[in-house]
Amino acid sequence: MKYYLTTPIYYVNAAPHLGHAYCTMAAETIKRFKQMQGYDARLTTGSDEHGQKVERAAKAAGKTPEEYTTAVANEFRSEWDKLGIQYDYFIRTSDPKHHETVRDMFERCRKNGYIYEGSYTGQYCANCELYVNDAKPGDPCPDCGRPTETVTEQNYFFKLSAFQQKLLDLFESNPNFIRPETRRNEVLAFVRSGLKDLSITRTTIKWGIPAPVEGKHVFYVWFDALISYMSAVKGTDLWPADLHLIGKEIVRFHAVYWPAFLMAADLPLPKALYAHGWILFENDKMSKSRGNVVKPMPIHQVMGIEALRYFLMREIVFGQDGSFSYDALVTRYNSDLANGLGNLASRTLTMIQQYNGGAIPAAESDPAVSAAAQQAITNTIALFENFDFSRGLEVIWSFISAVDRFIVQQAPWKLAKDPAAKDQLDSTLYTTAEALRIVTVLLAPVMPVATGKIWKQLGMAGQVASTRIDALAWGQLKPGQQIGEIAPVFPRIDAKDAIEKMRALEAEATAQQAALLGKPAPKESAASSNGHIGIEDFAKVDLRVGVVLSAEPVKGADKLLHLKVDIGEPEPRTIVAGIAEAYKPEQILNRKVVIVANLAPRKLRGIMSQGMIVAASIDGGKPVLAGFLEDIPAGARLK
Ligand code: MSP
Repeated sequence: MKYYLTTPIYYVNAAPHLGHAYCTMAAETIKRFKQMQGYDARLTTGSDEHGQKVERAAKAAGKTPEEYTTAVANEFRSEWDKLGIQYDYFIRTSDPKHHETVRDMFERCRKNGYIYEGSYTGQYCANCELYVNDAKPGDPCPDCGRPTETVTEQNYFFKLSAFQQKLLDLFESNPNFIRPETRRNEVLAFVRSGLKDLSITRTTIKWGIPAPVEGKHVFYVWFDALISYMSAVKGTDLWPADLHLIGKEIVRFHAVYWPAFLMAADLPLPKALYAHGWILFENDKMSKSRGNVVKPMPIHQVMGIEALRYFLMREIVFGQDGSFSYDALVTRYNSDLANGLGNLASRTLTMIQQYNGGAIPAAESDPAVSAAAQQAITNTIALFENFDFSRGLEVIWSFISAVDRFIVQQAPWKLAKDPAAKDQLDSTLYTTAEALRIVTVLLAPVMPVATGKIWKQLGMAGQVASTRIDALAWGQLKPGQQIGEIAPVFPRIDAKDAIEKMRALEAEATAQQAALLGKPAPKESAASSNGHIGIEDFAKVDLRVGVVLSAEPVKGADKLLHLKVDIGEPEPRTIVAGIAEAYKPEQILNRKVVIVANLAPRKLRGIMSQGMIVAASIDGGKPVLAGFLEDIPAGARLK
């Protein structure tokens, strides 16, 4: 039986980071789990290459869009290869086979009466490639906080409004279509509130798939991108997908637009969507635009990639946001992998070597441990089936702890000294070895390499990945089997040293990828020049004179004010400033202030702040705003 799953296809305006790796690793874990249940599971990933954002990024890099997208798409591929992530299809939206599928889809929708010509005026966010319905000129994009642009275009529209009831029926008849429940509820509310038709071509953009119509229309990136899931497997019988794994921010495109396009084209719908949460770093979504990305390769080089895979799947409740930190990564590695699993494996195998010449003894197993194992198998499989990896791994680790306690209770090192206790010793050894085998199979989807090593050390034939997880049961370990060569799988790691190394490699990887994206890497870091920075470093900070146009308190946040500040741009900036304890809103109205204008936007209390206000303070003291004695117009730059 086939199982076809996909990751989102990643935008090529950023190099791969931990957020992309998280989704791809999770998808590959699901693929491996399905394979171990006997499915012929296939995984598609790829690159989303069209649109204004990419066009601009290529230009900034001094490359043609083709050169630029090829370089970044290759970077994604090679990253997944180096991280050992086995995908089956990598679809680029610039692939001619994809262009053909997109045009075909458009024709099918048109033939069925769901496409019409119309004109659209509205706010558009070039960064998110999104028309922002209900936004007024000057409003920031609700997703990224950057200013939107007003555009008017003669476009082709998709009759999304015709699908409201059909979508509601779909969600009703298939309650698992959108998971987790929170996302399903969001989508239900959105669809129930009414659907507007969707403009699916653009004339303002050149870098896209030409639409088969009069004039210079290219397809809207989301119409283009979603169809890649089908183009990737064109000519196979894999469509419809069994699962689209996505991040929570793109649920609407997948749960509303995508099924509507497919219904309009009379094509089969995917079976399910699952939206995972975000990896946060320093309390914010990890993303290139926020400048807080961590790269997976340095972690791989210092700790081995499965440490990262394990950490992400164990630490973050699937479907919810979770934080990444190097400290937490190393702590979990040492406690769960080095001391937990690694220790169980080396203890068990060394005892078999020492007390039974390296052969698995023939013996009765301990009934309490075998019952606990059976329970762990059932629970883990049910939880993995539900993509509840963190709880599944918790179940496995509580079983590992139970086996550890069993070993201490039995004290095989004492039994070995007493010839009368031979049966009990054999039973202890068989029980722990069989427990280790079971743990190894259950963990194989999450840590394929490490479990492969333990499998070999246990003397098992074949690959652990070829074992049927659904047929896993206590007692399958064959007595008499000779174990393999014992070697540590998870050596303990010195936290300070490892974190220093990862940070240093991270800086190198960032510079390399910046070069790939055509941005010159910083020549010298502040740290390497005795704390001095060059004038060119200072010049990177865009400091502007601003005038406060409005100020109001932020609900539930005593320290914050929500400001609109004119910095000489067509529209004022929204800035959330931590100055409420020092200034009442009316005190700073019309006041000239200093704004850091090129700080990455940041969401504070749900408001996207597009810059920072400059203030001085001493430790623990109230902030005092920087200002001017002479008159100076808004927008003037501080140099
Ligand atoms: N190109 C679109 C998707 C089109 S799919 C037909 C896109 N690309 S993206 O590169 O911005 O992000 C895609 C996915 O990367 C997210 O949905 C998510 O799965 C993953 N992530 C990117 N940053 C992430 C985090 N900080 N945390 C977790 N996942 C993140 O949207």
